[in-house]
Amino acid sequence: MDDSATLWHGRFDGDPAAALRALNDSLPFDRRMFREDIAGSRAHATMLAAVGLITGEERDALCAALDTVEAEMAGGAFVAAPGDEDIHTAVERRVTEITPAGAKLHTGRSRNDQVATGLRLWTRSALTAVATDVLALQGTLLNCARAACGPFGTGAEHRAFRTVLPGYTHLQRAHSVPLAHHHLAHGWALARDVDRLLEARRRADVSPLGAGALAGSTLPLDPSLTADELGFAELFDNSIDAVSDRDFVADALYALAMLGIHLSRIGEELVIWASSEFGFVEMDDAFATGSSMMPQKKNPDVAELARAKAGRLIGNLTGLLAVLKGLPLAYAKDLQEDKEPLFDAVDTARLTLAALVGLLDTAEFADERMREAASSPYLAATDLAEWLVSQGTPFREAHAVVAEVVRRSLAGDDSLSDLVRADSRLGPEAAELVDYPGSALRMTRGAGGVQEIADQMRRFERRLATDADRVGGRHRSNAE
Ligand code: ARG
Repeated sequence: MDDSATLWHGRFDGDPAAALRALNDSLPFDRRMFREDIAGSRAHATMLAAVGLITGEERDALCAALDTVEAEMAGGAFVAAPGDEDIHTAVERRVTEITPAGAKLHTGRSRNDQVATGLRLWTRSALTAVATDVLALQGTLLNCARAACGPFGTGAEHRAFRTVLPGYTHLQRAHSVPLAHHHLAHGWALARDVDRLLEARRRADVSPLGAGALAGSTLPLDPSLTADELGFAELFDNSIDAVSDRDFVADALYALAMLGIHLSRIGEELVIWASSEFGFVEMDDAFATGSSMMPQKKNPDVAELARAKAGRLIGNLTGLLAVLKGLPLAYAKDLQEDKEPLFDAVDTARLTLAALVGLLDTAEFADERMREAASSPYLAATDLAEWLVSQGTPFREAHAVVAEVVRRSLAGDDSLSDLVRADSRLGPEAAELVDYPGSALRMTRGAGGVQEIADQMRRFERRLATDADRVGGRHRSNAE
């Protein structure tokens, strides 16, 4: 084959325009899935031999040539020819240079089912890689949670947590909560991301190979054989749908966007906590940046970028949805626009996850500042009301009693603790709650009590172990 020729030049008179090539060629970005394209071709050649469309020698020659091309591409020795418009063209052109059997490789196949196959394989392993990275961040959060706990069950229950901070609603101090409780909250959100990533991986795990351009083939192909060869869990049911379906890319991008949103919430919180106003966290120098003008500055750029990257991930999802909307069946070149957002989203998520792991691994949480902020007696107001409830007072009434004492204290009558102690409805036992905010007493499921945090941490550890198995599964990652 003339190496400046495209796969389709037979029908055309002149050469394609440079502006067309610049717009149309996808090799600059889809070369990234060369391993998956080659795996698809190997499976296809194996199937062609099994059904008698090529000989066993031709299959072996094709597989050997595919190995050579893979090694050339992996090692950087591969030289693209002017006619290589995409990875499929490039691989087939080079295989045909190596063996005359190359001319039979595309038997019963179109780039339409070929590209869908390669991208599904790529997506499957990329999602495995991202989920593995999410598990690493969850492990870091678990370590942070452990570090924020004192030894459990050592008597002085109220003080069993090394670090307690105010929990916020409306960014106003609400209840005191153990820092471990807060870290684990992010950890559980990420557990849902692992679920979503695995669900998207399951949806990608369907073989479209054998659908041809859109209508299948008159040749006796065996699509179930290629599906098995490639380790796909399922096989397409409709050849038109098989080549035009990019739902799996949208599913992956949604899972990645939602993950990005969780990372952005972690990032935003760290930005706020790193401010002098909060002073809840000190970032390690290796994970902070300076200012070119203001020598005193230490900036939380990692956390800010974690916050910002969500915008990009959401953009990748909405961009693809707009491409897919209104596309008539079956394949159209619009579908070539699926790859860059997907590649970018996977790279962005992985970059952000790794940086957040480093940031959290090395950050110092300011126990004293947090405890000080959490020590406002007013944070015990709900605990006081609940104490009254436990003594038989209806909650509404209890709310009013405590509100009145808080109001008098705020007006300067006396400290809340003394007012509570002196109040006939409350008294010294209730005053204890003011002196030691009752986070340790919240024993309801998933709450901040000592026993509950210990149980929750065990549940989280078990969840991480189960998810590591689910992620590990059959699809090892080669998305690097
Ligand atoms: N590079 C193309 C893509 O990414 C491959 C499929 C081309 N198919 C075609 N009929 N032109 O979608």
